[in-house]
Amino acid sequence: MANKVFIAPSILNANFDDLEKEIGKISAVADLLHLDIMDNKFVPNFTFDIKRAFEIIGFSKLPVDAHLMIEDPDSIAPKYAQNGCSSVTFHLEAAQNVLRTIEDIKSNGVKVGIAIKPATKFSEVEPFIEMIDMLLIMTVEPGFGGQSFMHDQIPKVAMARKRIEQMLDSKPLLQIDGGVSLETIAEAASAGANCFVAGSAVYKSSDPAGMVEQLREKAQTNFSG
Ligand code: DX5
Ligand code: ZN
Repeated sequence: MANKVFIAPSILNANFDDLEKEIGKISAVADLLHLDIMDNKFVPNFTFDIKRAFEIIGFSKLPVDAHLMIEDPDSIAPKYAQNGCSSVTFHLEAAQNVLRTIEDIKSNGVKVGIAIKPATKFSEVEPFIEMIDMLLIMTVEPGFGGQSFMHDQIPKVAMARKRIEQMLDSKPLLQIDGGVSLETIAEAASAGANCFVAGSAVYKSSDPAGMVEQLREKAQTNFSG
């Protein structure tokens, strides 16, 4: 049996007016709920203020995987770690003190992830991968759902997988986010990704739960790690 793959639907393109119901559609089949936090500064879009984000974390029956696309993760990420998230991922490009932010998240008993944008090289994040629980390689420019998958990020995924396989102890999850669909997930899984964020593929589907299962099946069949 191949290693488990994780499917993390993003609610960015779900109906924000009834998120409890939207999350309920995938709660029985998904592994994680991917919560995109955008501040309209680090990226040109805004999603939830911290109060609303904590409400969503409160009613989600799935563990929440917070993806912080904000310009000040050093001070904000620990607040998410203290308020019920399962993992908190911040952007390498935004953090002032990466080591301290990793520790501030971990010290709350929460998993820590680092995300890198398409232009950021794997070598820039590599010094930190032994300290984190998840590496997020963006496969679109962060900010919006519904964009096209960037195939040129695949070599970076493969490079990260190769490095992760050299690690002896616990290995971080290798997550991708952006443009994940039934057309693109196999390529990413073959390159070594094992955690997949999918927004529009899931929520534009007439059967979100069925789509999660199809994505999982395709990823599991193609994963090589
Ligand atoms: C984009 C977000 C993604 C987004 C993915 O900046 O980080 O999580 O929801 O949406 P799709 O799957 O539609 O590309
Ligand atoms: Zn995201």
